[in-house]
Amino acid sequence: ERVQESLLVLWLLVFSYKMIHGHNDEDNEFLENSSELLNPDPNFLAPDCPRDCTCTQEGVVDCGGIDLKEFPIDLPESTNHLSLQNNQIEEIFPEELARLYRLETLNLQNNRLTSKGKLEKPSIRVSRATDKLCNMSLCNKPVSGHRWKLTLAPKFLPNTLISADFAANSITKIYGLTFGQKPNLRSVYLHNNKLSDAGLPDNIFNGSNNVEILIMSSNFLKYVPKNLPPALYKLHLKNNKLEKIPKGAFNELVGLRELYLQNNYLTNEGMDNETFWKLSSLEYLDLSSNNLSQIPSGLPRNIVLLHLEKNAIKTIGRDVLIQIRNLEYLLLHNNKLKARGIHPLAFQGLKKLHTVHLYNNMLERIPSGLPRRVKTLMILHNQISEINRNDFATTYLLEELNLSYNKITSPHIHREAFRKLRLLKSLDLSGNNLHTLPFGFPKNLQILKLKENDISTIPRRALAGMTKLQELYLNNNKLKVNSIHRAAWQELSSLQLLDMGGNQLISIPSDLPGSLEYLYLQNNKITMVSENAFESTPNIKGIFLRFLQTLQGLQRLLQGPM
Ligand SMILES: *[C@@H]1O[C@H](CO)[C@@H](O)[C@H](O)[C@H]1NC(C)=O
Ligand SMILES: *[C@@H]1O[C@H](CO)[C@@H](O)[C@H](O)[C@H]1NC(C)=O
Ligand SMILES: *[C@@H]1O[C@H](CO)[C@@H](O)[C@H](O)[C@H]1NC(C)=O
Ligand SMILES: *[C@@H]1O[C@H](CO)[C@@H](O)[C@H](O)[C@H]1NC(C)=O
Ligand SMILES: *[C@@H]1O[C@H](CO)[C@@H](O)[C@H](O)[C@H]1NC(C)=O
Ligand SMILES: *[C@@H]1O[C@H](CO)[C@@H](O)[C@H](O)[C@H]1NC(C)=O
Repeated sequence: ERVQESLLVLWLLVFSYKMIHGHNDEDNEFLENSSELLNPDPNFLAPDCPRDCTCTQEGVVDCGGIDLKEFPIDLPESTNHLSLQNNQIEEIFPEELARLYRLETLNLQNNRLTSKGKLEKPSIRVSRATDKLCNMSLCNKPVSGHRWKLTLAPKFLPNTLISADFAANSITKIYGLTFGQKPNLRSVYLHNNKLSDAGLPDNIFNGSNNVEILIMSSNFLKYVPKNLPPALYKLHLKNNKLEKIPKGAFNELVGLRELYLQNNYLTNEGMDNETFWKLSSLEYLDLSSNNLSQIPSGLPRNIVLLHLEKNAIKTIGRDVLIQIRNLEYLLLHNNKLKARGIHPLAFQGLKKLHTVHLYNNMLERIPSGLPRRVKTLMILHNQISEINRNDFATTYLLEELNLSYNKITSPHIHREAFRKLRLLKSLDLSGNNLHTLPFGFPKNLQILKLKENDISTIPRRALAGMTKLQELYLNNNKLKVNSIHRAAWQELSSLQLLDMGGNQLISIPSDLPGSLEYLYLQNNKITMVSENAFESTPNIKGIFLRFLQTLQGLQRLLQGPM
């Protein structure tokens, strides 16, 4: 049938500002161009144009803002773009739509398409973000200061439908033929509605096997819907109330690449070891902000990016990760991991894994068996108190190591702990309990952060050979001029930035490296600067000597002289 063939793209444009606001940043790429199609030539009146509308020869019909109470029934059959926005239409007649076999776009924004004409409360100021949409004639302009939202999806939509965007309404119910029996349907946007499990038909996409994008984030679903269309490559279900993924729910989705399940109530009991197993194309899985106590087993091998942060994960078993051969990013921060809960072989063979986030856990030491090819390891905000000789003995490729805000003390950093880290560029040991500068820093470091410790001395050879170091942060420690060895800076031939603010210096440290450009010395006890203080630093660009009364500074003052 011609009806089947015509490319009808139905836009029920009842968007609210939420659509492009805050976390509701779901896909609205399809919106970009519709406005162009909706600007008819106002000077042309076709002979069979409905009253008060304007029509062009090309089939563009504009009946926007003319106080229509009903869907117009005398539209030209040749209509391909129909604008009905800013009216008071309460109902669409499917037969009328079906007659318009050339229809490509339909703009129904700002009408009264609620069930039985019931009106939602007027709501929502137009924010700056909506201005842009409004100018594209896509927003729900507050023409009379009120706006209305869809509460029930249409019982019927034409089977020529390719894309449906019902986002940011108040839909509670969808019917079997809303999205069913639509062989051309490709994308469905339903985020920011009020859908619960009871509001979905048994088989929401029955006969619509080509849906590729389904966005149902920010609803009230407890279960992953059953019978999802097999062609899906993007499925977003974040911000729901999901507790359970029914057995086999994802089994047909062999093309799925992106699965968002974050911000739900999922537990390990709500899934089984085959829940994700058939998702052989899955590359991006987000299970963050759920209630998992373990990493789900049976994760498929092609995942590249795995979000598991903000759960209650306590252990990483030997066999849960090793099959994910393509894993590159593993995000496990904000969990309850202890080092002894991580199996030493848990990361074995993950040759592509280069970024691991383990911050905000309960690690009492560096876990053994770190991924061998890790480049970025974020392990800050744990309870680590020591760094042993072999903790980093196998991670040759490490470039960035962040160990800040742990409980590491100077005597517990083994002098040879960093010996294999030839590629390490950035090391952060801020916020630990160091009282002296440890020995054995990797020689190729470019950035070394040691702020907020109790460092009072810089021994002679502690920074020896660090010719690549560009930035050194020693601020908020207890350094005094005479506890810094005179030759401490000697070999730092690339040093550009030195931050020694918030210490107990009474004069500018001497013999600073000639490469230095920025020197921070605020909040010390410097009362005078000698004439030759900067003799050794001809490249200096910024000197910061301001006395800032920071909270920390105040605390120090209150604690009395040290
Ligand atoms: C959107 O419009 C631009 C220019 O008007 C055009 O190049 C582009 O192909 C259009 N995109 C779609 C998806 O129609
Ligand atoms: C929208 O249009 C109005 C006037 O037509 C203009 O003042 C405003 O800057 C436009 N806003 C944006 C975001 O383009
Ligand atoms: C699915 O559609 C077929 C017709 O194509 C129909 O026979 C069947 O009852 C429908 N199933 C459901 C669950 O709606
Ligand atoms: C899941 O567990 C069952 C029973 O322990 C086992 O037979 C099956 O092979 C497991 N499946 C996967 C994908 O590991
Ligand atoms: C997560 O699980 C714990 C116990 O397992 C429970 O007390 C808590 O309420 C759960 N949180 C949510 C948001 O379901
Ligand atoms: C370590 O992580 C903290 C927190 O994200 C960050 O502020 C700091 O800059 C990081 N250190 C380095 C050297 O990047």
